[in-house]
Amino acid sequence: MEAELGTLGAELRRGVSLAGLTSLGIGGTTDLLRLTRHETIPAVLDLIDRHGLPHRFLGGGSNLLVADGELPWIVLQLARPDPDVVIEGHLARVDGAADLGRMVTTCAKHDLGGLEGLIGVPGTVGGALRMNAGAYGTQIGSYVREVKVFRAAERRIEILRGDQISFEYRHTSFGPDDMMLAVTLELSPKPYKEILQGIRICNEKRRSSQPMGQKSAGCIFKNPPGLSTGRMIDELGLKGLSVGDARVSDRHANFFVNSGKATAADMLALIADVRKRVETAYGVTLENEVVVWAA
Ligand code: EPU
Repeated sequence: MEAELGTLGAELRRGVSLAGLTSLGIGGTTDLLRLTRHETIPAVLDLIDRHGLPHRFLGGGSNLLVADGELPWIVLQLARPDPDVVIEGHLARVDGAADLGRMVTTCAKHDLGGLEGLIGVPGTVGGALRMNAGAYGTQIGSYVREVKVFRAAERRIEILRGDQISFEYRHTSFGPDDMMLAVTLELSPKPYKEILQGIRICNEKRRSSQPMGQKSAGCIFKNPPGLSTGRMIDELGLKGLSVGDARVSDRHANFFVNSGKATAADMLALIADVRKRVETAYGVTLENEVVVWAA
């Protein structure tokens, strides 16, 4: 299989620890397939299917909690091309594997703004698109003109216009087996200096309210309509609550950090415990924002 994958531009790495590929630093081991050519992805999927291997698509791993131990799936990840952002007038053509923050600064250097709020959001552009990532009033979905998506269920690469996709709060109409290959964003002309100012403000806000430099997956739960999950968890005095090395951040109560050697089991137990306490106290059932790959 390896040789055939090679001819399709897919590089197989065996026994990779996903803990090293996720911002939480949690996850078991499996085989990883790095994809260098969009057009061969349908054939790659056919091949791994013929071998009876279930698969998962991995983006930047920054909003993901992966199970412990031997994992049952082969994991597919796009390799980042160079360049991964091409500017044409007020359009940015961006590869799904591009780093979100670097994409924002590349656009800024071409005097294209609007994305400033996304600056500190970790992960890839494809991952951000998949769940309509947002921060400080900006959501990536608002800027989408076109998406090139691999529909794994149908083995087809499709180009969708922005108005054919629904972008909601941390949710899109993409299916679980869709892989974001590339996106064209339509941006507004804005002087670089002004964009930089906006970026600085967002960075400061983030630094003052979120744990930086610690292993986390960002916010664990979504905010229910009109409510702040972080405030609710904080009001219950749960900052610092821990299961093993999985711990509710002291800085922002909706961030759960891996303070050492947390396992997925620790993190899931902490999530369940906090969800139950919030339910009891507020009558609200929190929905995960973090994507969980349970084996
Ligand atoms: N708050 C507390 N205690 C806390 C955390 C927050 O009292 O421990 C209060 C704050 O003082 C504020 C309110 O709760 O009055 C809202 O907090 P914040 O401004 O930090 O925003 P958030 O609703 O908790 C959302 C997104 C973040 C995004 C920020 C900034 C969700 C679930 N979270 O957080 O996104 O960075 O706004 O726009 O929508 C993520 O998606 O992973 C994420 C971190």
